Amino acid sequence: MTTASTPISRDFASDNTAGAHPAVMAALTRANTGTSPAYGNDPWTSRIEDKFSKLFDHDVAVALVATGTAANALAIASVTPPWGAVLTHSESHVSDDECGAPEFFADGAKLVSLVGIGNKLDPDTLQERLSRMPDGVLRQVQPACLSITQATEAGQVYTPAQIKALADIAHARGMMVHMDGARFANAIAHLGCTPAQATWHSGVDILTFGGTKNGAWAAEAVIFFDKAKARQLPWRAKRAGQILSKGRFLAAQWDALLENDLWLSLARHANTMARLLGTGLATVPGLRLGWEVQANEVFALMPQPVWQKLEAVGYPLRDWSSQFLPAQVQLGTGERLIRLVCSFATTPEDVAALIAAAAQREPVSH
Ligand SMILES: Cc1ncc(COP(=O)(O)O)c(C=O)c1O
Repeated sequence: MTTASTPISRDFASDNTAGAHPAVMAALTRANTGTSPAYGNDPWTSRIEDKFSKLFDHDVAVALVATGTAANALAIASVTPPWGAVLTHSESHVSDDECGAPEFFADGAKLVSLVGIGNKLDPDTLQERLSRMPDGVLRQVQPACLSITQATEAGQVYTPAQIKALADIAHARGMMVHMDGARFANAIAHLGCTPAQATWHSGVDILTFGGTKNGAWAAEAVIFFDKAKARQLPWRAKRAGQILSKGRFLAAQWDALLENDLWLSLARHANTMARLLGTGLATVPGLRLGWEVQANEVFALMPQPVWQKLEAVGYPLRDWSSQFLPAQVQLGTGERLIRLVCSFATTPEDVAALIAAAAQREPVSH
């Protein structure tokens, strides 16, 4: 990943800005020989359910799609009727960043917003909202799905116990539990538990497992832990234009990520870079961290001289919502809450350069 000649990157705007990992590109090249049956009937796709079943220590149904939005929308639509409610954080990706795709694919189902610090939901909030949605009331949408994000849009990670507490409440109301795992790999790297412990052991019914932010070119997996619930999925995916004719190229990317747990080592690297960045930035006078660094994202409350300095030397800074900061951390005058994201491609040199630029310990002349 890191070579002496790698130029310093100033791009911490997203984990989507890096390219694909060389092992993924090599797998794509290997898959690019000869002909192969189309529409997922290729040998790569045929093997993928076994590989994910091994990883999760459970017999799973899998659909591979090209984007996280499609993965989330198809997962939610598969378990939510048009009159159903999807309970989710008000700032979750499904709620805020998918242009209504979950509602569209679920034929008009309703997203119901919940609040929570660090974009995490807690059992009391969920219970309270559900108590205002009694079963069988004709005027009201009926609770069908709970969607949580792991790691959250504020870089916070649910523990298996926290997931189970939410899932128990949802299941008691007959709801399904969906986990948006665009950064599931980073969450597992932080937790140090198995993928099984953080999903079906804890009550997750459907996981959308992100590959794209973690070294893939474009590959997301929708994973159903109850295969019976996945019966509609192929048709839903086809109607959504998500059955790629050359599907082998989706599966080949996952082949590379699953080989020797590359997905986990890439996520561990990204998390380590984020920890390094967070620790370094916290020493910059006037700069504070919004949430604890748990996964691969750092949220920095930057005073004006710092963000001005960084923008002046070419760092693209991405503002983030401060609505769900911890109560003791409030945005001051002139401060901006900036999201900085590390990926498999972030180097220690990139991190050191950003910290130095923020502290202005030396002139930045790259
Ligand atoms: C939490 C979360 N979920 C899902 C996605 C996937 O979205 P996309 O459709 O851009 O692949 C993202 C990407 O930014 C994300 O941050």
